[in-house]
Amino acid sequence: MTLGLDLERVASCYQTELRQFAERHPRSGEHYQENLKHWLYGAPLHWMQQWPGLYPILVADAQGATLTDCDGHTYVDFALGDTGAMFGHSQPAVAKAIGHQALHGSTLMLPTADSLWVGQELVRRFGLPYWQVTTSATDANRFVLRLCRMITGREKVLVFNCNYHGSVDESQVEFDSAGQMIPREGVHANGIKHATTTRLVEFNDLAALEAALAQGDVAAVLTEPFMTNVGMVPPAPGFHEGLRALTQRFDVPLIIDETHTISCGPGGYSGEHGLQADFFVLGKCIAGGIPAAVWGCSQAMAERIWQVLPHFQPGQAINHFGFGGTLAGNALQMAAMRATFSDVMTEANYAHMITLAERLREGVQRIIDTHRLPWHVTRIGARVEYLFMDHAPRNGGEAHHARHGLIEAYLHLYLLNRGVLLTPFHNMALMCPATTAQDVDLHNRLLDQCLSQVLAQTNLQGAAS
Ligand SMILES: Cc1ncc(COP(=O)(O)O)c(C=O)c1O
Repeated sequence: MTLGLDLERVASCYQTELRQFAERHPRSGEHYQENLKHWLYGAPLHWMQQWPGLYPILVADAQGATLTDCDGHTYVDFALGDTGAMFGHSQPAVAKAIGHQALHGSTLMLPTADSLWVGQELVRRFGLPYWQVTTSATDANRFVLRLCRMITGREKVLVFNCNYHGSVDESQVEFDSAGQMIPREGVHANGIKHATTTRLVEFNDLAALEAALAQGDVAAVLTEPFMTNVGMVPPAPGFHEGLRALTQRFDVPLIIDETHTISCGPGGYSGEHGLQADFFVLGKCIAGGIPAAVWGCSQAMAERIWQVLPHFQPGQAINHFGFGGTLAGNALQMAAMRATFSDVMTEANYAHMITLAERLREGVQRIIDTHRLPWHVTRIGARVEYLFMDHAPRNGGEAHHARHGLIEAYLHLYLLNRGVLLTPFHNMALMCPATTAQDVDLHNRLLDQCLSQVLAQTNLQGAAS
């Protein structure tokens, strides 16, 4: 038995699910064969190939918490574009704002009235006084790191093991079994000498953090407030206080990336827990699916930035700043962000999403207890994740070792074949304002059935032998 399950039984049940998948999704299969002729990995983005099953389902429509595929199946979508659609698909208010702005100029390289509203709202909601817009959270992180290097004159970026902040080059590292930092498995180093760009420590290890910062060469600490990309790793009691105190002691800007933890509430995890960063990054869900992200900084950081990159003066030669993007801050993004902040990222919607997330968490906990599995389930706000270890991991390395490709593939495919989508890559379920209690109960019932099926077959086999 591994992680409470007989892996041979899981493998055999998985084969049955793969056959069912092929039978149920013939049209998606045909499209995929065609797409393979044009797209490098059979879809516009290689991640799309990594859903459970033999190929990605082709989506015909998406509304609220529901997807419909080209074979006519509907799904309760708990993946929600891996947070990009955390407030539901095709939100009417956002769709209307996007449609309206598209008729009045989408990208102008000039501000619109919405920019004023959004700027004020970012300050009100997240507390930092100055903001910029980018087209992705990856970009926001990359740009903030560049600025941190400029203002500190230092080279290294400190990240936590098993982090994910987008394809930021410096962060593509991990510890090997001897605790040495190496390029992340499968990711080419891209000419980056990580020894000169990166310091890596485990999350929650304040002693290692202190030793790393004491070297005096760290330009920024980049972290999620609660790790979400390797399963969920909670901050230990006192970790955030220690992190803030150490970054202040060594004068190292602290960047908090709330791209996923915005699931916690309208102000993200920081808003819920009173964290104060020097820089704040947020992307994915803030513009209803229009590519957009924001980063904000404190007054002190802004003043340091203005010293190296002053405000433009009329008549001055045009300068490169090394960050931005032609489409960043465009009118369509601003209209979509305004509608998202005003109409969907509301207290009321969060309350609904969090109540349902708790219902899902409780259900999964009951299933774990009933089947006596050495698993656990975690929730932060509207985000729930189950992991194949019996306690919450203390750091990314621990969480990484609890992953199991085959068990994940089987669970995800069993659910998908019966109309429920979990986030590919891990066992994560997100609620949106349109998610219902019935949706949650369906997930919980199917998870129970799926595990009962493997365990019953294991028991039968045990009884027969
Ligand atoms: C915490 C965090 N930051 C940044 C990113 C990058 O977001 P994007 O791929 O939209 O640039 C991700 C993506 O999953 C993320 O989880």
